[in-house]
Amino acid sequence: MTDSAAGQSSENLLEIRQLKKFFPIRAGIFQTTVGHVKAVDGVSFFVKKGETLGIVGESGCGKSTIGRTVIRLYKPSSGKIIFKNQDITRMRESDLRTHIRKDIQMIFQDPYASMNPRKTLKSILKEPLATHGLLDDHSDDRIAELLNRVGLSPSYMNRYPHEFSGGQRQRIGIARALALNPELIIADEAVSALDVSIQAQIINLLEDLQAEFDLTYIFISHDLSVVRHISDRVAVMYLGNMMEIAPKSTIYEEPLHPYTKALLSAVPVPRKKGMAKRERIVLKGEIPSPANPPTGCVFHTRCPFAMDICKQTTPIFQELKPDHFVACHLYNTGS
Ligand SMILES: Nc1ncnc2c1ncn2[C@@H]1O[C@H](COP(=O)(O)OP(=O)(O)OP(=O)(O)O)[C@@H](O)[C@H]1O
Ligand SMILES: [Mg+2]
Repeated sequence: MTDSAAGQSSENLLEIRQLKKFFPIRAGIFQTTVGHVKAVDGVSFFVKKGETLGIVGESGCGKSTIGRTVIRLYKPSSGKIIFKNQDITRMRESDLRTHIRKDIQMIFQDPYASMNPRKTLKSILKEPLATHGLLDDHSDDRIAELLNRVGLSPSYMNRYPHEFSGGQRQRIGIARALALNPELIIADEAVSALDVSIQAQIINLLEDLQAEFDLTYIFISHDLSVVRHISDRVAVMYLGNMMEIAPKSTIYEEPLHPYTKALLSAVPVPRKKGMAKRERIVLKGEIPSPANPPTGCVFHTRCPFAMDICKQTTPIFQELKPDHFVACHLYNTGS
């Protein structure tokens, strides 16, 4: 990855450089480490203030691990995480709490799982305020305002989580994420469990909130059409690696990486009039295990265009055109 891909601009809210997260595989009665799952294996990207970066890729490619490592729920194995020009890679928990825990919030696929079923909506929404010592006489008003803002009636304040539908629970999850006035929200499969019509409502809500509160989003999903709706730029992952990052229209209309092309050819994506018909690329074989990824380009075992060099050398993630990064030897021949 080149430095330019890591992004040097101060407009970047977040910069990730060569981030790796390996999970140990333990075996035997002594639980000795016998290998590592290379869930995230050296990815670099940046997120500009106010934008939405979509991250797509098949199950197990490392999307959630990136999200969790970026907010330091997981300790990074190596690499750098720079948030608001501050290196938070090795920051201690106490410092994280004062510096970034409020600024970065996450929204999950199943907000219900993290809600205490015996607590009312009011106390659920008070939790983040209490954690950060922000409870005061105005907290009830703040919670009513949050509920209004996410499209729920403040009169629901004394109800319990089970009384709400899936879409309503996701609105509660969003209200909880907003409670601390964050700058960055990482949404991990936030609409994946919802019906299509509800998905659209939640995405519209997220877009409205982004404009109103100047929010920056990382929107993680395996669903290419959902990502297309909400993202400004899209990052495509495969087996712990970034394959391609580009503005949305470029990714969907002029993808360069064979993996991106294969992903897109597998789903019906509307084409603009006059655009060339997309070739259908069917990938052979299974996704290899991240515990034992292929040498060279991790995609070479399934790539219809694989060359000898692909088996030996990891392609550089380079900026081929402005704002368009690709890791592929097909485009690397001159360098
Ligand atoms: N806590 C963990 N301990 C060990 N291995 C893990 C852990 N979390 C994830 N992994 C492994 O790391 C790899 C990446 O997982 P991750 O959950 O990040 O993928 P994902 O892209 O979010 O997939 P999905 O689309 O299914 O949510 C997988 O092989 C997974 O089994
Ligand atoms: Mg995931």
